[in-house]
Amino acid sequence: MSGNVTLKSEMPAVTASGLDNVVAAETALSHVDGEAGRLIVAGYDVEELVKAHDFEGAVAALWAAAGLEPAPSAAEIRNALGRAREAAFGYIPALLSSKRHETVTEGLRTGLSMLADEPGEDAADRDIPAHIRAPVSALGAAAVITAALVRAEAGKSPVAPNRHRGHAEDFIRMLRGEAPAAAEVEALNAYMVTVADHGMNASTFTARVIASTKAGTISAVVGALCALKGPLHGGAPGPVLDMLDEIGTRENIEPWLERKIAGGARLMGFGHRVYRVRDPRADVFNKAVTILTNGNERVRFAREVELAALKALRAAKPGHRIDTNMEYYTAVLLEALGIPRDAVTSVFAMARIAGWTAHVMEQERVGRLIRPQSRYVGHWPEGEAAA
Ligand code: SDX
Repeated sequence: MSGNVTLKSEMPAVTASGLDNVVAAETALSHVDGEAGRLIVAGYDVEELVKAHDFEGAVAALWAAAGLEPAPSAAEIRNALGRAREAAFGYIPALLSSKRHETVTEGLRTGLSMLADEPGEDAADRDIPAHIRAPVSALGAAAVITAALVRAEAGKSPVAPNRHRGHAEDFIRMLRGEAPAAAEVEALNAYMVTVADHGMNASTFTARVIASTKAGTISAVVGALCALKGPLHGGAPGPVLDMLDEIGTRENIEPWLERKIAGGARLMGFGHRVYRVRDPRADVFNKAVTILTNGNERVRFAREVELAALKALRAAKPGHRIDTNMEYYTAVLLEALGIPRDAVTSVFAMARIAGWTAHVMEQERVGRLIRPQSRYVGHWPEGEAAA
């Protein structure tokens, strides 16, 4: 370094575009093995986590793995979530009257922003233990807000939560206005448990960066939701269903795929930054939706499109290992549960808040301010060495 100027030649090289393969943190929360197609969450293979726990149990396992003390049990989280849903319902009228959002996800962003990073002794959530009040408030509010916004888009008034029901069950009830079937509750729990955490994905990394400045849990969740919203991340399921609808018939599958890929389009629901083989979560969701629908025509058609897409991608991109990712069967499963296309990303967020808040806890407990370097490639002041 000459004087106080770092010559371009001395600047650290950009390690990888998109931070590919850069290890940004050590975590006890989840491990994504892209070569083996394996996901471990809080010490469980994801397929085993789904068998062992409902969503409340997965939240308890993640928060314990984050080092939260005292770590609440699944029953304590179920109770706290019920109270958080009730507290959140109190400000739905204000959210609905604001109408400063165009999509359900943007409405969720606005609604979560109404929560405090350091919630006080609000009468509504006083019974929630103070050390989990912020993360539980975010989880509870996300379900209440999403259900109310979907109903508002259909011209229906919001349905009040029932704090005695499980989180997944009460969400569907608030969405529909009637109790769901047990198989539907089981399918939504399987989905929410499976997507609760997934290593250092873009939205989780966003949450950790915000948490690393000590900004607070709600700020980290809102920032992470903004990252999740993008079609390259959590915004893919809606376009998957659009694709299935546009293809329409079996005769049109291959011509449609060839035309899209030749035009440079990315097929939503395929490809992944880490998985070089099939995303294991796709199998969990494919199994859940097949059981739920008894393998109906939509599921069979989706499977035929998937196989044709994999074949077309392998032919078009021989140098890349592009396989089915979780979003493909997420789309088919959540559609089968009657969740409108516009709300799928919000339902993803409802579940991923469990992981985001666990990473916030872990980052606040063991992390430092996250502040990487950058390589300056702009103009240097007149006369200065730009070598
Ligand atoms: C999620 O990170 C996580 O863990 C995320 C997630 C989580 O749980 O949090 O797993 C959830 O976000 C799943 C991904 C959902 N997104 C989609 O389904 C959108 C479609 N997929 C892609 O856009 C893409 O696969 C990414 C963004 C997911 C990953 O892309 P990469 O690793 O950055 O790869 P790349 O963009 O460098 O592409 C490499 C090549 C390119 O071809 P060339 O330009 O070199 O010729 O592969 C091609 C890409 O065009 N490619 C695709 C493709 N995915 C990659 N071509 C067509 N369709 C696709 N889906």
